[in-house]
Parts: sequence; structure tokens; C-alpha cells
Amino acid sequence: MTAPFEATIEFARVQDQADKLSSFKNHFHFPVHNGKPVIYFCGNSLGLQPKTVSEAIDVELQSWREIAVGGYFKGANPWLYYQEYLKASLAKMVGALENEVTVMNALTVNLHLLMLSFYKPKDKRTKIIMEAGAFPSDQYAVETLVKHHDLNPDEHIIELFPKDGKKTLETTDILSTIEANKDSLAMVLLGGINYYTGQFFDIPAITKATHNIGAIAAFDLAHVVGNIPLQLHDWNVDFAVWCSYKYLNAGPGAVGGVFVHEKHATNKDTPRLAGWWGNEEKERFKMEKGFIPKQNASGWNISTSQVFNSTALKASLAIFDEAGIETIRKKSIELTGYLEFLLNRLTNLDFEIITPSNPQERGAQLSLFFKEKGKQIHQAMLDNGIIVDYREPGVIRVAPAPLYCSFEDVYRFYEILTTIH
Ligand SMILES: Cc1ncc(COP(=O)(O)O)c(C=O)c1O
Repeated sequence: MTAPFEATIEFARVQDQADKLSSFKNHFHFPVHNGKPVIYFCGNSLGLQPKTVSEAIDVELQSWREIAVGGYFKGANPWLYYQEYLKASLAKMVGALENEVTVMNALTVNLHLLMLSFYKPKDKRTKIIMEAGAFPSDQYAVETLVKHHDLNPDEHIIELFPKDGKKTLETTDILSTIEANKDSLAMVLLGGINYYTGQFFDIPAITKATHNIGAIAAFDLAHVVGNIPLQLHDWNVDFAVWCSYKYLNAGPGAVGGVFVHEKHATNKDTPRLAGWWGNEEKERFKMEKGFIPKQNASGWNISTSQVFNSTALKASLAIFDEAGIETIRKKSIELTGYLEFLLNRLTNLDFEIITPSNPQERGAQLSLFFKEKGKQIHQAMLDNGIIVDYREPGVIRVAPAPLYCSFEDVYRFYEILTTIH
């Protein structure tokens, strides 16, 4: 597969024939519109259901039905260790050691828990840098965390704004803001990909600059994991959190993911709010006083493993293992590049692609900004069997997830868009 692209169905089909991942589409259930599978470009919001999920859930239902509490120890997948079954695949996906990842709770809860561990405002070092227009849940989490420490959010949260007339941030501006606040900065928290613009930040450069001035580098990777390969361990990121219902295809309310760098995870003195599931396994059932944290990211687990929130993730990660995140990314760059090429040919719709055009600064998603009629156009897409989402103000997010979207889907999407006014 190579650019230059062509705006024909034949070209799209040739790309699909050459695509090593083309058969992976068959692993997923597609909603139907007017008797035909929809064009589903909404994996940035909720990934499609892998066909293996229902059987995987049936296995756990069977354990519960037939051996009840025995399922913790003797089920097909003993529930006591359910989190462990996910670690190898997740570690590969985010470039971590297995002892640096765990699953628990949901994304914003994990963001709170990890920030409680790592944001320790002291003397002059009290400030947090984040993107202006970060996902609202992250904004609320940071605002209330700062207030929790009796600090004023207006003074202690530094928001990064794009330059006048721009929609995305320059890495150099992020780095210079870190440097400018070198004596007062406690933490940098960025979305790895901004949910609205689709911009992918330079995580290694930001982490390095943050560490150079002695602060903590943290990332919300909701829009990155399963979309772009990462090297969180080597990049020395302090902690990261993500959800599993977007590109990871683990279903609504699926268990959240956490990375804690080994240098913190193996330190039992790293502060945290604890529960029995984070306690040393051998000691857990002694029911004794005194928390002894596991010497890994699971030392942040609090409650009993959420089996039914994790089962779809386990099934889905098996598909990622088979496909390989590097192969997925390679296809994604081509697929989203093709989408961009076709969108740039449209003359009947007035919009701007605000996602960076450099493939290294984006994942699968392109954000189309409509000054006018964005909602109307979004509705027209839905009416035509295209599933994408709309975010105020004015953005339609279009994300062809490479595991289940084809070049032909992208071409069909374009063809339908030529008919919308
Ligand atoms: C970037 C980002 N952060 C946080 C959240 C909130 O996640 P949750 O509701 O799982 O806490 C989302 C949800 O879409 C998100 O996209």
C-alpha cells in the first residue's frame, strides 16, 4: 500500500486486497442500517463488539452458575487472578513491563487515584499544566484535586492554548511553558491525543522536559491505547490512565487501564489509597492489620477484580495480539491518509480538518470543523448509515479504526459525503 491515492472504488479495493488485516473485519459485529452494515467510524468513542465476547462472557456466567464462589479458585479463568490475564497484552500495547500495568475501576476514577499518589504540592511546587479544552472529566478531576489541597484552581492550573488563529498546540510552546514554570510546576497532565482536535502530543519530549525541571509527567491515553503503539517505560512516563471502551473494543463501562512506571510501582512507600486487592497476595487472606502493597502497578488495585467488566477486554486483546499493534498502526496511517486525501477533494461541504496533517501527530481520527451546519451535516451522515460523532463546538470526529474499517468503507464514506449539502 502506498500513496499517491486515487479517488476510485477500484483503488480502494486494491488496497483492501493487499491489506494483511482485511479479514479482521469479520471478527466484529456491525450495526445495520437499511439492511446493510453501517460505515462505523466511531471507534474513538465506542469500539465495535468482537464476536468472541458473548462466548467469553458465557464462560464466566457458567462458572458463576455452576460453581458460584468456587469460580474465584477453580473456574475456567479463576477470578482471583483475572487482572493478571490482561497484563501481557496490555504491556505490549503500551510499551511497558508487565509489572507496570494493571486494570481497575474506570478512567476518571483512576485519574483521581493516581493524581492523589503523584500530585504532592509542596512549598512553591504546586502547579499543574494541562491542555485548555482537555476532556471535561479531566478538567473537573484536576480542578477538584487542586481544591482538595486548599489551593485556588485559577492560580494553580496552567492551561495551554493554541497560538492565535490555530486550533492545535506546538510542541515547542508546550516545552517552553514547562520551562517557564520550572520552579513552580508539580505535574504535567495531558491527554495523549486531544479528544476534540485529534492531536497526538510528543509524549517523550514532554516527559523529558517535565523531568528536567523536577515535575511529574502524566497522560490520559483514552484516545491512544489500541490506536498508536507507545513506549511508556522507555519514555519514562510517571503514570498514565486510559479506558478500554474506545479503540480497545471492550464495551461500555469496561474496566480502565493504568500504567505506573516501575521506579514508582516497586516502591512500597509511594503513597496511595489502598484496598485489599492491592495487598500482597500471600498476606491478603490473613485478614490482618497493616497494608503491604504489591510491588507493582497492582499495588494500586483497591477492590475485588471486576470480572464481567474485564471479560470483553480479555477477548478483544486476543485479537490485538493476533494483529499486532505495529501492523495496526501501519494500516491506520494509510487509511486515515486516504480519508484525508478524499476529504480534501470535497467541494460541496465547507469545513476545515483541524487535526494535524502530519501522521506522526495524529492517530486514526480526523476532526472536521464546520463553522456552520455541523449538527445538520452530522445528522445527514447518520441518516445515510454513517456512524460518526459530533462534539461542540462544530466538530464531527471521523475515526476509521483499522481493525474493522476498510479502504472501501473510506471511499463509500466519501461518496456519500459528495451527496450531502
Ligand atoms: C480523554 C478522556 N478522558 C476521560 C474520559 C472519561 O472517561 P470515564 O467516563 O471512563 O471516566 C473520556 C471519555 O470519553 C475521554 O475521552
